[in-house]
Amino acid sequence: MSIKEGTHLQFIVRATVFGSLLAVVGIVLMMVITIGKYLQGSYELPQDSNTVRTSTPPMGWNSWNAFHCSPDFNENSIKENIDRMVADGYLAAGYRYVVLDDCWQSSRDKSGVIQVDQNRFPSGIKALSEYAHQRGLLFGIYTSAGRETCEGKPGSYGYEQQDLNKYIDWKVDFIKLDWCGVEYLNTTQVYGKWRKLIDQSQKPIVLSVAVAQIYSAFDGQSWLWGDTVGDMWRVATDIQDDWSEMLRVYDINSRYAPYQKVGEWNDADMLEVGNGGMTFTEYRTHFGLWSIMSSPLMLGTDLRALSPELKNLVTNPDAIAINQDKLGLQGEVILERGTIQVISKPLAKRGSRAVLIVNRGEAAAEFTLRPRRLRLLPLIYFKEIWPNNRDRVIIGQYQVKIPPHDSVFATVQGIDSHSELRALLPKLDNQVRSGNLTRQTAFDVYGIFEYDDEFQRGESIGIRNNSSIRYHLNNQCQRLQASFEYVRSERSRNQSESLTAAVYLDGDKVWEYQATPGSPAAQLNLSLKKTRILDLVTHASTTENVILYGRWKLPIIECQD
Ligand code: GLA
Repeated sequence: MSIKEGTHLQFIVRATVFGSLLAVVGIVLMMVITIGKYLQGSYELPQDSNTVRTSTPPMGWNSWNAFHCSPDFNENSIKENIDRMVADGYLAAGYRYVVLDDCWQSSRDKSGVIQVDQNRFPSGIKALSEYAHQRGLLFGIYTSAGRETCEGKPGSYGYEQQDLNKYIDWKVDFIKLDWCGVEYLNTTQVYGKWRKLIDQSQKPIVLSVAVAQIYSAFDGQSWLWGDTVGDMWRVATDIQDDWSEMLRVYDINSRYAPYQKVGEWNDADMLEVGNGGMTFTEYRTHFGLWSIMSSPLMLGTDLRALSPELKNLVTNPDAIAINQDKLGLQGEVILERGTIQVISKPLAKRGSRAVLIVNRGEAAAEFTLRPRRLRLLPLIYFKEIWPNNRDRVIIGQYQVKIPPHDSVFATVQGIDSHSELRALLPKLDNQVRSGNLTRQTAFDVYGIFEYDDEFQRGESIGIRNNSSIRYHLNNQCQRLQASFEYVRSERSRNQSESLTAAVYLDGDKVWEYQATPGSPAAQLNLSLKKTRILDLVTHASTTENVILYGRWKLPIIECQD
């Protein structure tokens, strides 16, 4: 080989090596850009501007779990808690509302004006509200939508406008509206009245629907109708400062994950952190559960006595960021193994999840989590919030041993194994998925027979006069089959009345039938593709003391798993 040929060959080899290197660098660069772009992406869900009034779960402090109606519930203790909220960093962490619960009121005067308990609040509520506002907080108040509060104080039923005017005069930003003293009242009507009055007032008042006392099977189903009247709604009876009671409320709340959206918050109840009935570990799990469920976070303890350790827990910025994530989904239980339960919450940032692994048992438990369970590709970045607050890259699996009642809380970043957000949404409960309508899925008390045997068996829904039944389908169902028929009338003087039944898909009427005495049952078979909300509605031709009975027979909603 001549020198010239050798140089030539060297040149070719170098050029090839250089070219390959360039190609590799190019490919790596493209991959980095693609992943970078992916990680910058975020998810968003469509929102209903009529019902979305709060963009993240409300956060604040409420007097009830701390003081109930004890003598400690008074002007001085509230002011001192307000001071602590500001000075100790709770406000800075996001806790904005300070809410007076039951027992601030004593009676009504002759003209119906609500009277403040002078022993507890000698300077009045307006002064206290000002005290809060001057310190950058928002102010809230409790009342019952019924005739009495749960502690037997005067309720607001029949005084809605008068009470609201008073609250507006006091510059109230938040109303917790309970459901006590409500025998024979109807949730949708009574709460609906408050909604209307608040809308008319044009004040940005948050309405917390505290329907905790279940008077009928329907009243309690707040997750189905809450969004039509309020911003957050309780789903269970009162929490207690006790590990198993806390889990009871969590278990109930977690069933309704698919019903939660931005501005439509299932309220797991106020926090018990700090009240002494649980260990630090249990409070940590409690706070983790409430955070990942996107429940409103209402502190419920005397902040003057909260330990620095628990203060750090409830002001943990990573936990709060998970709770306040703008996608607004409620974490869903994705896995159960023995005493271990894994809750995952998709976050707005693409490929990002909050994960809480809880050991509910009485002995330590080992557990292995694989990213594919979170619907992520195998390589993930695991940012542990507790117990150890460390970050690590995980390939394939994450192994952990969790002490009894403890939890691991983390934010995980990876790449979604499914390209559509839909694949990540919490699934509807079994009742809807299995097809047959049962009481679990019915909405709206008004007009539904409460004790209809067929209804109990899931075979039909009896209605009277004007009724409305709503299903949140989350785009997960394909078909509705049912029939509608007129059944009978009560106190009718003539036979000319009719019941008009209609089906609405996302607000559009797609089917209507006017049923009269003796008319045959009308069959319907409708496609539900791309439907979020299904309403079955009836209207009676008469309202004067006459009751017309009808029936949605064998309604079946087919949904995918
Ligand atoms: C009900 C509510 C509680 C509290 C009390 C006050 O029990 O669920 O949160 O407001 O009433 O009496």
